[in-house]
Amino acid sequence: MKEIRGKKLKLLIKEEDIKRRVRELAKEIEASLEGDEPPIFVGLLKGAFIFLSDLVRAMDRFVFVDFMWVSSYGQAMESSGNIKILKDIESDIEEREVILVDDILDTGLTLKEIYEFLKMKNPKTLKTCVFLDKKERRKVPFEADFVGFEVPSKFLVGYGLDWGEYGRNLPEIYVVED
Ligand code: IMP
Ligand code: MG
Repeated sequence: MKEIRGKKLKLLIKEEDIKRRVRELAKEIEASLEGDEPPIFVGLLKGAFIFLSDLVRAMDRFVFVDFMWVSSYGQAMESSGNIKILKDIESDIEEREVILVDDILDTGLTLKEIYEFLKMKNPKTLKTCVFLDKKERRKVPFEADFVGFEVPSKFLVGYGLDWGEYGRNLPEIYVVED
């Protein structure tokens, strides 16, 4: 039985199911692209780095990759709703097809704010892709265009998601049991 700081981890999504779903998502995104120029994938650090790296490797065409770093809530289990941009993207996304990628959509506060921030840079299209979606926890109305799995309102770790930095490198998704 896996544990983090004395809390038990319960398996929620197996590695093979993740792999299959990520390949499907890559095909869905590919089919939605309009132009010939490489789309720009913008990942939110740190949580999205594993999902994003699998996602872009499952694409058949060339894509560009960039990252933003937004302030997280550290050791806490809930978003503060006070999002700071610690690192902006390096690329010029004007008139480009952009896909904003995060590990999980929870209250929606983070993605909604970053979506509006990137929209001001005038991309040709701006779509959002999240690996996990806790639909019932939304504090602001926001839906992603591409969703890997809908998950229950429990605290999760693995596949990039952490609890105080622990658990990111687990290849599966686990519930942190209380
Ligand atoms: P939101 O602003 O509440 O939608 O929070 C989104 C961010 O919160 C994600 O990028 C994650 O980093 C973090 N987060 C939300 N739920 C979880 C979870 O269950 N485990 C780990 N991180 C989470
Ligand atoms: Mg995060």
